Amino acid sequence: KYDGLALTPPMGWNSWNKFACNVDEKLIKEMADALVSSGMKDAGYTYINIDDCWHGERDAQGFIHPNKDRFPSGMKALADYVHSKGLKLGIYSDAGSQTCGGRPGSRGYEFQDAQQYASWGIDYLKYDWCNTEGLKAEGAYKTMTAALQKAGRPVVLSICEWGNDTPWIWGQTVGHLWRTTGDIYNCFDCIEDHGTWKSFGVMAILDKQEGLRQYAGPGHWNDPDMLEVGNGMPANEDRAHFTMWSMLAAPLITGNDLRKMSKETADILINREVLAVNQDKLGVQGFKYASKDSVETWLKPLEGGKWAVTFLNRSRKPQTVGFDWKTTPVTDDLSKQELNAAKTTYKVRNLWTKKDAGTTKKAFAATVPAHDVVMLLLTK
Ligand code: GLA
Repeated sequence: KYDGLALTPPMGWNSWNKFACNVDEKLIKEMADALVSSGMKDAGYTYINIDDCWHGERDAQGFIHPNKDRFPSGMKALADYVHSKGLKLGIYSDAGSQTCGGRPGSRGYEFQDAQQYASWGIDYLKYDWCNTEGLKAEGAYKTMTAALQKAGRPVVLSICEWGNDTPWIWGQTVGHLWRTTGDIYNCFDCIEDHGTWKSFGVMAILDKQEGLRQYAGPGHWNDPDMLEVGNGMPANEDRAHFTMWSMLAAPLITGNDLRKMSKETADILINREVLAVNQDKLGVQGFKYASKDSVETWLKPLEGGKWAVTFLNRSRKPQTVGFDWKTTPVTDDLSKQELNAAKTTYKVRNLWTKKDAGTTKKAFAATVPAHDVVMLLLTK
Protein backbone atom coordinates (compact mmCIF):
# COMPACT_ATOMS: atom_id res chain seq x y z
CA LYS A 1 0.00 0.00 0.00
CA TYR A 2 1.12 3.52 -0.62
CA ASP A 3 0.78 4.81 2.94
CA GLY A 4 4.42 4.99 3.94
CA LEU A 5 4.42 1.66 5.82
CA ALA A 6 6.70 -1.24 4.84
CA LEU A 7 8.84 0.84 2.50
CA THR A 8 11.39 -1.95 2.91
CA PRO A 9 10.38 -5.61 3.47
CA PRO A 10 8.96 -6.08 7.02
CA MET A 11 11.28 -7.81 9.51
CA GLY A 12 10.30 -9.57 12.70
CA TRP A 13 9.18 -12.83 14.26
CA ASN A 14 5.97 -14.89 14.06
CA SER A 15 4.83 -17.73 16.31
CA TRP A 16 3.44 -20.18 13.73
CA ASN A 17 6.39 -22.05 12.19
CA LYS A 18 7.72 -23.23 15.54
CA PHE A 19 4.86 -23.02 18.02
CA ALA A 20 1.69 -23.42 15.92
CA CYS A 21 -1.27 -23.11 18.35
CA ASN A 22 0.88 -23.10 21.50
CA VAL A 23 0.87 -19.34 22.03
CA ASP A 24 0.40 -17.38 25.24
CA GLU A 25 1.47 -14.03 26.65
CA LYS A 26 4.53 -15.44 28.40
CA LEU A 27 5.89 -16.81 25.13
CA ILE A 28 5.23 -13.56 23.27
CA LYS A 29 6.92 -11.48 25.98
CA GLU A 30 9.93 -13.78 26.05
CA MET A 31 10.27 -13.51 22.28
CA ALA A 32 10.16 -9.71 22.52
CA ASP A 33 12.89 -9.89 25.17
CA ALA A 34 14.95 -12.25 23.01
CA LEU A 35 14.56 -10.09 19.91
CA VAL A 36 16.22 -7.31 21.88
CA SER A 37 18.88 -9.31 23.78
CA SER A 38 19.98 -11.28 20.70
CA GLY A 39 20.79 -8.07 18.83
CA MET A 40 18.08 -8.75 16.26
CA LYS A 41 16.19 -5.58 17.11
CA ASP A 42 19.32 -3.51 16.52
CA ALA A 43 19.73 -5.27 13.16
CA GLY A 44 16.24 -4.12 12.11
CA TYR A 45 13.78 -6.83 13.27
CA THR A 46 10.75 -4.95 14.62
CA TYR A 47 7.54 -7.00 14.57
CA ILE A 48 6.49 -9.61 17.11
CA ASN A 49 3.55 -11.33 15.44
CA ILE A 50 1.08 -13.64 17.13
CA ASP A 51 -0.32 -16.12 14.60
CA ASP A 52 -3.41 -18.32 14.92
CA CYS A 53 -5.08 -19.52 18.13
CA TRP A 54 -4.81 -16.49 20.44
CA HIS A 55 -8.59 -16.11 20.30
CA GLY A 56 -11.20 -16.49 22.96
CA GLU A 57 -14.86 -15.69 22.35
CA ARG A 58 -16.83 -12.78 20.99
CA ASP A 59 -18.78 -10.87 23.64
CA ALA A 60 -22.51 -10.07 23.46
CA GLN A 61 -21.74 -6.98 21.37
CA GLY A 62 -19.65 -9.02 18.95
CA PHE A 63 -16.20 -7.82 20.02
CA ILE A 64 -13.47 -10.45 19.99
CA HIS A 65 -11.36 -11.15 23.10
CA PRO A 66 -8.19 -13.18 23.59
CA ASN A 67 -8.26 -16.56 25.29
CA LYS A 68 -8.37 -15.74 29.02
CA ASP A 69 -6.14 -18.60 30.13
CA ARG A 70 -3.47 -17.89 27.56
CA PHE A 71 -3.60 -14.08 27.65
CA PRO A 72 -4.83 -13.28 31.19
CA SER A 73 -3.44 -9.70 31.12
CA GLY A 74 -5.21 -8.92 27.85
CA MET A 75 -3.92 -7.72 24.50
CA LYS A 76 -3.58 -4.06 25.43
CA ALA A 77 -1.16 -4.91 28.23
CA LEU A 78 0.81 -7.18 25.90
CA ALA A 79 1.00 -4.49 23.23
CA ASP A 80 2.16 -1.99 25.87
CA TYR A 81 4.91 -4.41 26.90
CA VAL A 82 6.06 -5.00 23.31
CA HIS A 83 5.95 -1.26 22.57
CA SER A 84 7.97 -0.51 25.72
CA LYS A 85 10.79 -2.55 24.13
CA GLY A 86 10.67 -0.38 21.01
CA LEU A 87 8.98 -3.17 19.05
CA LYS A 88 5.63 -3.54 17.29
CA LEU A 89 2.90 -6.14 17.85
CA GLY A 90 1.16 -8.14 15.14
CA ILE A 91 -1.94 -10.30 15.30
CA TYR A 92 -3.73 -12.79 13.05
CA SER A 93 -7.24 -13.22 11.74
CA ASP A 94 -9.05 -14.74 8.79
CA ALA A 95 -11.44 -13.39 6.16
CA GLY A 96 -13.74 -16.39 6.62
CA SER A 97 -16.08 -17.61 9.33
CA GLN A 98 -13.24 -19.39 11.17
CA THR A 99 -9.45 -19.23 11.11
CA CYS A 100 -7.44 -22.16 9.76
CA GLY A 101 -7.11 -23.33 13.37
CA GLY A 102 -10.90 -23.20 13.87
CA ARG A 103 -10.98 -19.97 15.93
CA PRO A 104 -13.49 -17.15 15.28
CA GLY A 105 -12.89 -15.52 11.88
CA SER A 106 -13.57 -11.89 10.96
CA ARG A 107 -16.30 -12.50 8.38
CA GLY A 108 -19.14 -10.10 9.22
CA TYR A 109 -17.10 -8.56 12.05
CA GLU A 110 -14.39 -6.82 10.02
CA PHE A 111 -15.06 -3.30 11.29
CA GLN A 112 -15.44 -4.38 14.91
CA ASP A 113 -12.27 -6.45 14.76
CA ALA A 114 -10.26 -3.62 13.23
CA GLN A 115 -11.61 -1.29 15.91
CA GLN A 116 -10.68 -3.75 18.64
CA TYR A 117 -7.15 -4.23 17.25
CA ALA A 118 -6.69 -0.45 17.14
CA SER A 119 -7.84 -0.13 20.76
CA TRP A 120 -5.25 -2.74 21.76
CA GLY A 121 -2.45 -1.01 19.81
CA ILE A 122 -1.92 -3.64 17.11
CA ASP A 123 0.54 -2.68 14.35
CA TYR A 124 0.40 -5.62 11.90
CA LEU A 125 -2.39 -7.95 10.79
CA LYS A 126 -1.90 -11.25 9.00
CA TYR A 127 -5.26 -12.02 7.39
CA ASP A 128 -5.76 -15.64 6.36
CA TRP A 129 -8.11 -17.34 3.89
CA CYS A 130 -9.61 -20.50 5.44
CA ASN A 131 -13.39 -21.06 5.51
CA THR A 132 -14.15 -18.36 2.95
CA GLU A 133 -16.74 -20.21 0.84
CA GLY A 134 -18.62 -17.78 -1.38
CA LEU A 135 -16.16 -14.91 -0.84
CA LYS A 136 -14.00 -13.31 -3.54
CA ALA A 137 -10.49 -12.62 -2.31
CA GLU A 138 -10.00 -9.11 -3.62
CA GLY A 139 -13.29 -7.86 -2.20
CA ALA A 140 -12.87 -9.63 1.13
CA TYR A 141 -9.39 -8.18 1.65
CA LYS A 142 -10.58 -4.72 0.60
CA THR A 143 -13.24 -4.88 3.31
CA MET A 144 -10.52 -5.35 5.92
CA THR A 145 -8.40 -2.59 4.34
CA ALA A 146 -11.39 -0.24 4.70
CA ALA A 147 -12.01 -1.41 8.27
CA LEU A 148 -8.41 -0.78 9.30
CA GLN A 149 -8.52 2.63 7.70
CA LYS A 150 -11.72 3.49 9.54
CA ALA A 151 -10.19 2.34 12.84
CA GLY A 152 -7.51 4.92 12.22
CA ARG A 153 -4.35 3.16 13.39
CA PRO A 154 -1.57 2.48 10.84
CA VAL A 155 -1.42 -1.30 10.39
CA VAL A 156 0.70 -3.39 8.03
CA LEU A 157 -1.70 -5.76 6.27
CA SER A 158 -0.36 -9.17 5.30
CA ILE A 159 -2.59 -10.84 2.71
CA CYS A 160 -2.47 -14.60 3.24
CA GLU A 161 -4.53 -16.26 0.52
CA TRP A 162 -1.61 -18.41 -0.70
CA GLY A 163 -1.40 -16.93 -4.20
CA ASN A 164 -4.60 -18.66 -5.34
CA ASP A 165 -6.28 -15.61 -6.79
CA THR A 166 -3.25 -13.68 -8.14
CA PRO A 167 -2.95 -11.28 -5.17
CA TRP A 168 0.11 -9.69 -6.84
CA ILE A 169 -2.28 -8.21 -9.43
CA TRP A 170 -4.67 -6.52 -6.99
CA GLY A 171 -2.74 -6.56 -3.70
CA GLN A 172 -0.63 -3.45 -4.16
CA THR A 173 -3.36 -1.01 -3.11
CA VAL A 174 -4.97 -3.42 -0.62
CA GLY A 175 -2.13 -4.61 1.62
CA HIS A 176 1.63 -4.39 2.11
CA LEU A 177 2.56 -8.00 1.35
CA TRP A 178 0.84 -11.04 -0.08
CA ARG A 179 1.65 -14.72 0.17
CA THR A 180 2.54 -16.26 -3.17
CA THR A 181 2.34 -19.96 -2.18
CA GLY A 182 0.98 -22.50 0.28
CA ASP A 183 2.81 -22.99 3.57
CA ILE A 184 6.55 -23.36 3.89
CA TYR A 185 8.11 -26.14 5.95
CA ASN A 186 11.63 -26.85 7.01
CA CYS A 187 12.76 -28.96 4.13
CA PHE A 188 15.14 -27.76 1.43
CA ASP A 189 13.80 -29.43 -1.67
CA CYS A 190 10.38 -31.02 -1.18
CA ILE A 191 6.69 -30.56 -1.83
CA GLU A 192 4.01 -32.13 0.34
CA ASP A 193 0.69 -32.74 -1.33
CA HIS A 194 -2.32 -32.82 0.99
CA GLY A 195 -4.83 -33.25 -1.81
CA THR A 196 -6.25 -29.80 -2.43
CA TRP A 197 -3.54 -28.11 -0.38
CA LYS A 198 0.22 -28.07 -0.89
CA SER A 199 3.07 -27.13 1.40
CA PHE A 200 6.52 -26.44 0.10
CA GLY A 201 10.17 -26.70 0.98
CA VAL A 202 12.23 -23.56 0.45
CA MET A 203 13.50 -24.32 -3.06
CA ALA A 204 10.05 -25.32 -4.31
CA ILE A 205 8.83 -21.93 -3.10
CA LEU A 206 11.76 -20.21 -4.78
CA ASP A 207 10.70 -21.65 -8.15
CA LYS A 208 7.22 -20.23 -7.70
CA GLN A 209 8.49 -16.64 -7.47
CA GLU A 210 9.40 -16.46 -11.12
CA GLY A 211 7.44 -13.90 -13.10
CA LEU A 212 6.32 -11.99 -10.00
CA ARG A 213 9.10 -9.47 -9.50
CA GLN A 214 7.43 -6.62 -11.34
CA TYR A 215 4.68 -6.55 -8.70
CA ALA A 216 7.00 -5.92 -5.73
CA GLY A 217 8.35 -2.59 -4.58
CA PRO A 218 8.43 -0.20 -1.62
CA GLY A 219 5.18 -0.67 0.34
CA HIS A 220 4.05 -3.84 -1.47
CA TRP A 221 5.97 -7.11 -1.41
CA ASN A 222 5.69 -10.66 -2.67
CA ASP A 223 5.69 -12.91 0.40
CA PRO A 224 7.20 -16.37 -0.17
CA ASP A 225 6.23 -17.18 3.47
CA MET A 226 8.05 -16.88 6.77
CA LEU A 227 11.55 -18.13 7.52
CA GLU A 228 12.42 -21.64 8.70
CA VAL A 229 15.99 -20.65 9.66
CA GLY A 230 16.87 -22.31 12.97
CA ASN A 231 14.05 -24.83 12.77
CA GLY A 232 16.07 -27.92 11.89
CA MET A 233 17.72 -27.59 8.50
CA PRO A 234 21.53 -27.71 8.50
CA ALA A 235 23.36 -24.35 8.51
CA ASN A 236 24.21 -24.48 4.79
CA GLU A 237 20.53 -24.88 3.87
CA ASP A 238 19.47 -22.18 6.33
CA ARG A 239 22.09 -19.87 4.82
CA ALA A 240 20.87 -20.58 1.28
CA HIS A 241 17.24 -20.01 2.39
CA PHE A 242 18.07 -16.71 4.10
CA THR A 243 20.20 -15.54 1.18
CA MET A 244 17.50 -16.23 -1.39
CA TRP A 245 14.80 -14.51 0.71
CA SER A 246 17.18 -11.52 0.86
CA MET A 247 17.73 -11.61 -2.91
CA LEU A 248 13.94 -11.74 -3.40
CA ALA A 249 13.37 -8.63 -1.23
CA ALA A 250 11.06 -10.92 0.77
CA PRO A 251 9.68 -10.07 4.20
CA LEU A 252 12.05 -11.53 6.81
CA ILE A 253 9.71 -12.89 9.45
CA THR A 254 11.66 -15.39 11.50
CA GLY A 255 9.88 -18.43 12.92
CA ASN A 256 12.36 -20.08 15.27
CA ASP A 257 12.71 -20.12 19.07
CA LEU A 258 14.73 -16.94 19.59
CA ARG A 259 15.32 -17.85 23.24
CA LYS A 260 17.42 -20.86 22.31
CA MET A 261 19.16 -19.94 19.08
CA SER A 262 22.51 -21.47 18.27
CA LYS A 263 25.31 -19.08 17.40
CA GLU A 264 25.17 -20.46 13.85
CA THR A 265 21.50 -19.46 13.53
CA ALA A 266 22.10 -16.01 15.05
CA ASP A 267 25.04 -15.43 12.69
CA ILE A 268 22.72 -16.09 9.74
CA LEU A 269 19.81 -13.96 10.96
CA ILE A 270 22.03 -11.06 12.04
CA ASN A 271 24.40 -10.83 9.07
CA ARG A 272 23.99 -7.10 8.54
CA GLU A 273 25.54 -7.07 5.09
CA VAL A 274 23.04 -9.65 3.87
CA LEU A 275 20.22 -7.78 5.61
CA ALA A 276 21.29 -4.62 3.78
CA VAL A 277 20.69 -6.42 0.47
CA ASN A 278 17.17 -7.36 1.60
CA GLN A 279 16.45 -3.89 2.98
CA ASP A 280 17.95 -1.96 0.07
CA LYS A 281 15.96 1.22 -0.58
CA LEU A 282 15.48 0.57 -4.29
CA GLY A 283 13.21 -2.29 -3.28
CA VAL A 284 13.79 -4.26 -6.46
CA GLN A 285 13.30 -8.04 -6.26
CA GLY A 286 16.25 -10.03 -7.61
CA PHE A 287 16.10 -12.33 -10.62
CA LYS A 288 17.61 -15.56 -11.89
CA TYR A 289 20.20 -14.65 -14.50
CA ALA A 290 21.61 -18.06 -15.39
CA SER A 291 21.37 -21.72 -14.46
CA LYS A 292 23.93 -24.42 -15.19
CA ASP A 293 24.68 -27.79 -13.56
CA SER A 294 22.24 -27.07 -10.72
CA VAL A 295 23.97 -23.80 -9.94
CA GLU A 296 21.84 -20.70 -10.33
CA THR A 297 23.21 -17.20 -10.66
CA TRP A 298 20.92 -14.57 -9.18
CA LEU A 299 21.29 -10.79 -9.49
CA LYS A 300 19.68 -8.00 -7.47
CA PRO A 301 20.18 -4.34 -8.37
CA LEU A 302 20.83 -2.11 -5.37
CA GLU A 303 20.94 1.59 -4.63
CA GLY A 304 23.86 3.58 -6.01
CA GLY A 305 24.54 1.24 -8.93
CA LYS A 306 25.54 -1.64 -6.63
CA TRP A 307 24.60 -5.28 -7.29
CA ALA A 308 24.17 -8.37 -5.17
CA VAL A 309 25.25 -11.57 -6.94
CA THR A 310 24.43 -15.02 -5.57
CA PHE A 311 25.54 -18.44 -6.76
CA LEU A 312 23.09 -21.01 -5.41
CA ASN A 313 24.08 -24.66 -5.55
CA ARG A 314 20.91 -26.76 -5.58
CA SER A 315 22.72 -30.06 -6.08
CA ARG A 316 23.85 -32.53 -3.44
CA LYS A 317 27.53 -32.16 -4.26
CA PRO A 318 29.95 -29.23 -4.31
CA GLN A 319 30.08 -27.31 -7.59
CA THR A 320 32.70 -25.02 -9.03
CA VAL A 321 31.34 -21.75 -10.27
CA GLY A 322 32.96 -19.13 -12.41
CA PHE A 323 31.80 -15.76 -13.54
CA ASP A 324 33.71 -13.84 -16.12
CA TRP A 325 32.48 -10.35 -15.37
CA LYS A 326 33.48 -9.35 -18.90
CA THR A 327 30.45 -11.27 -20.18
CA THR A 328 28.35 -8.42 -18.79
CA PRO A 329 26.66 -5.96 -19.54
CA VAL A 330 23.42 -7.12 -18.06
CA THR A 331 20.58 -4.62 -17.98
CA ASP A 332 17.71 -5.31 -15.61
CA ASP A 333 14.57 -4.59 -17.62
CA LEU A 334 12.70 -3.61 -14.44
CA SER A 335 15.05 -1.10 -12.79
CA LYS A 336 16.96 -0.36 -16.02
CA GLN A 337 20.14 -0.63 -13.95
CA GLU A 338 23.18 -1.88 -15.83
CA LEU A 339 25.89 -4.20 -14.59
CA ASN A 340 28.76 -3.46 -16.93
CA ALA A 341 32.20 -4.61 -15.85
CA ALA A 342 33.74 -3.48 -19.12
CA LYS A 343 32.82 0.11 -18.34
CA THR A 344 33.06 0.06 -14.53
CA THR A 345 35.41 -1.80 -12.25
CA TYR A 346 33.43 -3.00 -9.23
CA LYS A 347 34.90 -3.99 -5.89
CA VAL A 348 33.78 -7.50 -4.93
CA ARG A 349 32.97 -8.54 -1.36
CA ASN A 350 31.91 -11.95 -0.11
CA LEU A 351 29.01 -11.35 2.30
CA TRP A 352 29.20 -14.66 4.16
CA THR A 353 32.98 -14.88 4.66
CA LYS A 354 32.85 -11.07 5.15
CA LYS A 355 36.02 -10.70 3.10
CA ASP A 356 36.89 -8.50 0.15
CA ALA A 357 37.44 -10.57 -2.97
CA GLY A 358 39.26 -8.31 -5.44
CA THR A 359 37.58 -6.57 -8.33
CA THR A 360 35.64 -7.45 -11.44
CA LYS A 361 38.83 -7.08 -13.51
CA LYS A 362 39.46 -10.71 -12.66
CA ALA A 363 36.97 -13.51 -13.34
CA PHE A 364 35.40 -14.88 -10.15
CA ALA A 365 35.86 -18.54 -9.28
CA ALA A 366 34.81 -20.50 -6.19
CA THR A 367 33.49 -23.82 -5.02
CA VAL A 368 29.97 -23.71 -3.64
CA PRO A 369 29.21 -26.53 -1.19
CA ALA A 370 26.07 -28.63 -1.66
CA HIS A 371 22.81 -26.78 -0.88
CA ASP A 372 24.72 -23.60 -0.14
CA VAL A 373 25.49 -20.20 -1.63
CA VAL A 374 28.26 -17.77 -2.36
CA MET A 375 26.86 -14.26 -2.03
CA LEU A 376 28.77 -11.26 -3.36
CA LEU A 377 28.30 -7.51 -3.24
CA LEU A 378 29.55 -5.47 -6.20
CA THR A 379 30.28 -1.83 -5.39
CA LYS A 380 31.38 0.86 -7.82
C1 GLA B 1 -2.46 -21.03 7.24
C2 GLA B 1 -1.35 -20.02 6.97
C3 GLA B 1 -0.20 -20.28 7.93
C4 GLA B 1 -0.69 -20.18 9.37
C5 GLA B 1 -1.85 -21.13 9.59
C6 GLA B 1 -2.50 -20.91 10.96
O1 GLA B 1 -2.05 -22.33 6.93
O2 GLA B 1 -0.91 -20.10 5.65
O3 GLA B 1 0.87 -19.38 7.71
O4 GLA B 1 -1.08 -18.85 9.63
O5 GLA B 1 -2.86 -20.97 8.61
O6 GLA B 1 -3.55 -21.77 11.18
